[in-house]
Amino acid sequence: EVALRGVVAMDGPSGTGKSTVSRRLASSCGAAYLDTGAMYRAATLAVLRAGLDADAPSDEVASAATHGVQESGTDPSAPTITLDGEDISAEIRGPEVTALVSAVSALPEVRNTMVARQHALIEEAVRDGGGIVVEGRDIGTVVVPDAPLKVYLTASPAVRAARRGRQDARAGRTSNLHVTLADVERRDRLDSSRRISPLYAAADALVLDTDDLSADAVLDRLRALVAERGLDS
Ligand code: DC
Repeated sequence: EVALRGVVAMDGPSGTGKSTVSRRLASSCGAAYLDTGAMYRAATLAVLRAGLDADAPSDEVASAATHGVQESGTDPSAPTITLDGEDISAEIRGPEVTALVSAVSALPEVRNTMVARQHALIEEAVRDGGGIVVEGRDIGTVVVPDAPLKVYLTASPAVRAARRGRQDARAGRTSNLHVTLADVERRDRLDSSRRISPLYAAADALVLDTDDLSADAVLDRLRALVAERGLDS
């Protein structure tokens, strides 16, 4: 049984199987798990609850996004996130949040606040020799540039939209494949072209194309890498 020490940075766009694989890797290695996308989504829900939208002045959006009390659970078997004490894990996956999250997460003040919270959670997890799998868009490039293992998952937009559609169906949300594909492509554009911490693979990241790889196959590769790099204890 491997036990992970240190940080595994898992980056890439949505629909690559990143969350599933990250959670399973953490569970199988007795490590903690941090979903940084959920943090940007929670910040976005706070903006919506303040009655603001994409047209609001960015200082008001940033202020609403960073003022609520967010708590991220790091147990991979039950990842939860709360806003002012309320469990918002389901609500942050809804279409209103998804439509606005790229705009909110592009604001420098929002990113600075979230990255500081991420550093605190990561430090707590690795203290005393523990491990954590951190998933996001800028983990290997900005949040933990010295992570001993960085993985960048990719997949074609069509495959990612199909996966998102199945996820929506499982969660009881109705969705349309054309709309989902357009949303995947729109968010890729926004997340890759923003000025601060855009989405790209770190030079030292292992890039894995998951179009033809099952979650089990990706997990096997990652567990082998953890062992090869001596990150298991
Ligand atoms: O992984 P996700 O789809 O839940 O992420 C939601 C959004 O948050 C995504 O469109 C970009 C943003 N994000 C980010 O900017 N930086 C991160 N580390 C994680 C997510």
